[in-house]
Amino acid sequence: MLKSYFIDVKGILHDFPILSRKINGHRLVYLDNAATTQKPLQVIEAVNDFYLKHNANVHRSVHTLGEEATELYEGAREKVASFINAGSEEIVFTRGTTESINLVRFAWAEKYLEKDDVILLTMMEHHSNIVPWQLVARKKGAKLRYVGVDKEGRLKFDELERDIAGSRILAITHCSNVLGTVNDVKKACSLARKNGVLTVVDAAQSAPHIRVDVREIGCDFLAFSGHKMLAPNGIGVLYGRKEILQEMDPFHGGGDMIKEVFLDHATWNDVPYKFEAGTVNTGGAIGLAEAIRYIEKIGIENIEKHERAVTQYCLETLSKIEGLLIYGPQEAKGRVGVVSFNIKGAHPHDVATILDRNGIAIRSGHHCAQPLMNHYSVPAMCRASFYLYNTLEDVDRLYQGIKKVKEVFG
Ligand SMILES: Cc1ncc(COP(=O)(O)O)c(C=O)c1O
Repeated sequence: MLKSYFIDVKGILHDFPILSRKINGHRLVYLDNAATTQKPLQVIEAVNDFYLKHNANVHRSVHTLGEEATELYEGAREKVASFINAGSEEIVFTRGTTESINLVRFAWAEKYLEKDDVILLTMMEHHSNIVPWQLVARKKGAKLRYVGVDKEGRLKFDELERDIAGSRILAITHCSNVLGTVNDVKKACSLARKNGVLTVVDAAQSAPHIRVDVREIGCDFLAFSGHKMLAPNGIGVLYGRKEILQEMDPFHGGGDMIKEVFLDHATWNDVPYKFEAGTVNTGGAIGLAEAIRYIEKIGIENIEKHERAVTQYCLETLSKIEGLLIYGPQEAKGRVGVVSFNIKGAHPHDVATILDRNGIAIRSGHHCAQPLMNHYSVPAMCRASFYLYNTLEDVDRLYQGIKKVKEVFG
């Protein structure tokens, strides 16, 4: 039996009690990490600790609890900033990637986009990085253009190079949540910058798994979600270059985002507070900071190597199964731990149901990427996605489970 050498998985499994659950009589094999990850005890305890000992609203009260809550919340912002090499005033806490992208749509695109401007997207975007742009394009009379995907599941970079010049915004995913493809966003942002194009990077599937450095990438905006990286639901991040955040309009109006309010107008607070109206998700931010500490303790490079080893083993193992088609690059190099596939003659929902009977959790469906499903002429795919607690044994269980599916469907 091969081992994965980069993370002591046995050593960390006790941090994730949920992973010792039995599902339908089998040890749970959780392979739905691209949808959401499990949370370690350290994160759960950090959130608990906040509510048990320090809970108060932030930026408002001068009493001790108010000061403690503010310190924890702003400390979380600093942790996130250092994780992606940003300044802390460039970190806006949101509900997640979807809200982060919608913030850019409302606070930047609604203000600056003009009729016939082009928003350049790719065919491998998640709906969260398509629909907000469709909505603003419709409102402002702007146009959408898409960079294609080749047979191997990689971006057609020549199309990006061709179309970037006439565009106003480039909204691009760092890693595909379907194909696992890692896009060269540094190169894409460099091309965009040379052409005066605003860049929005969707890092929902990269920030949890590979090093993300906003200065190195050179993007204007970058969005990700806490729940996909060991943190609670309902907390996410929008990184924005400070000068751009400063010139933007607010997103929501309400408490804490203002400097002064008069009867007929108001003035805005400094960034990033201008974008955080109302009572914020303090517990979520604290949980996210603890999740980052957990990731840093293991090392993001080790997580990347570990997942690549598991992914390589998965690609090799599944490719032995007759009638199973794997989408995306056929080797783990240039991929994150997402493996989408279909089995001839079996609907993905049936595959997922049979696997669940065997204690294996995968996702089936269109993965919020219907344009990509159309590109492959399928309504749905099965998707196994890995994180730091998955092992080669989990891949073996998936293989055994798929053999059972084949027994049912021939
Ligand atoms: C690439 C990508 N972008 C955006 C999202 C949306 O993230 P959230 O639902 O956390 O806002 C997801 C979630 O699956 C994703 O995989």
